[in-house]
Amino acid sequence: MTVLVAYGSTGGSTAEIAGWIAEELGAAGLETRLSAADAVDDVDGYEALVLGAAMYAGGWHADARKFAKQFAGRFDGRPVWLFSSGPLDHTADDTELPPNHQAEVAMQLLQARGHVTFGGRMTTEAHGWLGFVARRMEHEGHSGDFRNPERIRAWARGIAAEITSARTG
Ligand SMILES: Cc1cc2nc3c(=O)[nH]c(=O)nc-3n(C[C@H](O)[C@H](O)[C@H](O)COP(=O)(O)O)c2cc1C
Repeated sequence: MTVLVAYGSTGGSTAEIAGWIAEELGAAGLETRLSAADAVDDVDGYEALVLGAAMYAGGWHADARKFAKQFAGRFDGRPVWLFSSGPLDHTADDTELPPNHQAEVAMQLLQARGHVTFGGRMTTEAHGWLGFVARRMEHEGHSGDFRNPERIRAWARGIAAEITSARTG
């Protein structure tokens, strides 16, 4: 029985968050598969799902949106959690930021149990257009790494506990 941890990420920071989550699930004794959302062909046989997406322009990463549409209703009876990553400040840690509209749609499609927002990362070392935008946004004080690995790992441990207790009934 395997937990699928899938993500939509352009700059790699959401992928890294998904990796931390998968590590914690693994440490709790759960088998996990970590995958980019657009590389998942089928969801049969997974015990649970964690789907994460970077936020861009008020929306959810396209790969995660497509995943939710493609596999809508396919996790019936199996627990699903979503996370968003984006804010380039401490608001995600200081307050409980609700899902944006597209994340809400994904929650409904996948009948998710919960959603959490984590801070994001944007650094000027990013490649291509992301680096260009980051260099511009740096002047406005909107760059840096606002992810909080401890909070993320604690959230993952909570999920692991729920999955494990569902197993034992
Ligand atoms: C063009 C652009 C638009 C963004 N829009 C949002 C947004 O609407 N809301 C938000 O919270 N973060 C926004 N961000 C921040 C990203 O979500 C953040 O950098 C995130 O960590 C990127 O994840 P990734 O590295 O996995 O792609 C934006 C970043 C860029 C470059």
